[in-house]
Order: sequence, then structure tokens, then C-alpha cells
Amino acid sequence: MTRPSGTLVFSSAFDAFDVWRDALHAHLPDLAIVDASEVADPASIHYALAWKPPEGFFDKMVNLRLIINLGAGVDSLVGRRDLPAGVPITRITDPQMARMMAGYVLFATLRHAREIPFFEQAQRRGEWAYRHPRSPETIRVAVLGLGELGALAAMELQRQGFTVLGWSRSPRQIDGVQCFAGIETLDTVLEQADILVVMLPLTTDTRGLLDRERLSRLPQGAALINVARGALVDQAAMTDLLREGHIGSATLDVFAQEPLASTDPLWAMENVLITPHLASVAIPSSSARQIADNIVRVSRGEAPANQVDPSRGY
Ligand SMILES: NC(=O)c1ccc[n+]([C@@H]2O[C@H](COP(=O)([O-])OP(=O)(O)OC[C@H]3O[C@@H](n4cnc5c(N)ncnc54)[C@H](OP(=O)(O)O)[C@@H]3O)[C@@H](O)[C@H]2O)c1
Repeated sequence: MTRPSGTLVFSSAFDAFDVWRDALHAHLPDLAIVDASEVADPASIHYALAWKPPEGFFDKMVNLRLIINLGAGVDSLVGRRDLPAGVPITRITDPQMARMMAGYVLFATLRHAREIPFFEQAQRRGEWAYRHPRSPETIRVAVLGLGELGALAAMELQRQGFTVLGWSRSPRQIDGVQCFAGIETLDTVLEQADILVVMLPLTTDTRGLLDRERLSRLPQGAALINVARGALVDQAAMTDLLREGHIGSATLDVFAQEPLASTDPLWAMENVLITPHLASVAIPSSSARQIADNIVRVSRGEAPANQVDPSRGY
């Protein structure tokens, strides 16, 4: 087995450098792993493991061989002006990350399906407010995006007995999930979504995809779960529709601007649950192996796995 040497730089304001360094060293003992703050000469860097690095971060990294996005969504990376030409970009597609995401989606779906917000509000009024539970197969859950994360979430929802629809760019097949593909089928999917789960990457094709008109196609009182990116949805239209009750409730982990402004009306809405972009995260112990494998591949002159297609945007 090749033991690549060289230097990897780490940059993330959200992740612990020491934990990632130790996890990677277990697989790559000869690699120097440095925090971005320690880099004196960018030309000494061969590999970059980064999540939203500062503008200009890649400038002068003339010997860079691989960029590893420290996460699944690459939207903040692919459009940057400082990306060195021809250097492959990979992202983390870790089964544990998919499981964590599926857990969040399941929690949020069950919360809406079992009308938990209604009971929370009744409890605050000291009210025994019986509502007969609906059987899961009578509830249609549509998952937009059937990639690494969306496909597992759709399977877990199907296992819970929901009627699950899925939507992607190219045709997919998932047992027990009614799959649709292409923009021309989107309205059909939205019109059937009692609960809509957004799991799409943010690209030039998907930015603003869920505009006022499309959100209005959801059945009256539908629930919305956005765990992908805020800019996929017209946030002002969504807020209006939540206020009017056309969208009955929402679980929102992502926003067009993060952190969400303290003055934003969404904070005070009783039918909205807000979490600060943490539905799923990259886990060092389980992701280190695939990062190491890719570094080995690149050091041997081979193409890395899980490459992002910059022209497609994901
Ligand atoms: N909130 C969080 O904590 C968190 C954590 C991780 C990731 N995320 C977000 O989740 C997103 C999805 O992650 P993933 O790993 O599942 O992505 P992925 O593996 O790249 O899959 C993307 C899915 O979206 C579909 N898609 C892309 N463009 C489309 C279009 N124009 N029309 C219809 N379908 C389209 C793809 O279709 P094809 O199957 O045809 O390619 C694929 O099914 C990430 O991009 C990221 O933004 C959020």
C-alpha cells in the first residue's frame, strides 16, 4: 500500500482540527496535517480538507492535487474564483452522515405526521386535546433529491409505512418509492406532497426552485421540511404561505442567510421549528478512511472517487 507524504491543510470554522488530524493520521501516518493558520507557504500544500474556507484561501496553492469538501454540499465551493484550474474536488459521502440525516428527516416527518406541534400547544393550555392518529400509509411524503442522503431518507420513510414519492434529475429506482424524474414531473409530485422533504443540492438549476407558484401547488396544510439549502426555497413566499396556513407547518434547518436574522418573522411562528444547520455533519472516525483512500489514489496518479462535477454543480 502506498503511504503518501506531502502536506494537507485543514480549514473549517465548524469542525475540530485535532480530531480530524488524529483520524486522518491513523490512515496516513506520513502525511503532514496542518491547520490553515499554520501555513506560511501555500506552495507547500498538496491536499486541502476544507469547509467554507475564507476567500483567497486557494490563492498561490500551486502544488495542490486534491480539494476535499468537508461535507456533502459543495455549493459554497464550486463557484469560487480562487479555485485552481484542473484540481479535482471531492466531497464526503459517508454512510454515517446519511444515517444522521435520515434520522433527522424521520424525526421531522413523524413530528408532523403525529401532529406533535398541536399537542405541544394544547399542553401549554393545559388541554387534553385528543386527535385520532392517522395511519402512515394515508400520508404522502415526497422527497426532492434522491442522492446519497435523500435515497436513504426515502427508504427509511418507506419502512415507517408512509406513502413515499421521490424526485430526481435522472430516473432512479428505489423499492417501495414512487420515483419521478425531471422538471416536467415536479408539479405532479408537489400536488401530492402532504409532507415535502427538500434534499436537493443548490445549483444554478435548483436555486429558487420552490418559488411561490410551486409552493402553492402543495396540498392545503402540507408540511415542509428543508434540510438541504435555504436558497432552494423563496423564503418570503414560504413565510407568507405559513402565515396563511397554506403550508401548515415547517421544520427548517437551513436558510437563505445563515445565521437567520434575529428579526426574521419565522422565529416567532408557532408552526415553525428552527434548527441551526445541523441535520447532519461529517464524522471524522467514519469519513477518514474515504478521504485517505482518495489521497492514496491521487498520489498514485489515479482519479479520486466521489468527484464533484463543477459543470453540474454537485
Ligand atoms: N442540513 C445539513 O446539515 C446538510 C448536511 C449535508 C448535506 N446537506 C445538503 O443536502 C444536499 C443533498 O446531499 P446528497 O449527498 O444527497 O447529494 P447528491 O448525492 O449529490 O444527490 C443529489 C440529488 O439531487 C438530485 N438533483 C440534482 N439536481 C437536480 C435537478 N435540477 N432536478 C432534480 N433533481 C436534482 C440528483 O439527481 P440525480 O440522482 O439524477 O443526480 C440527486 O438525486 C447537499 O447538496 C447539501 O446541500 C445538508
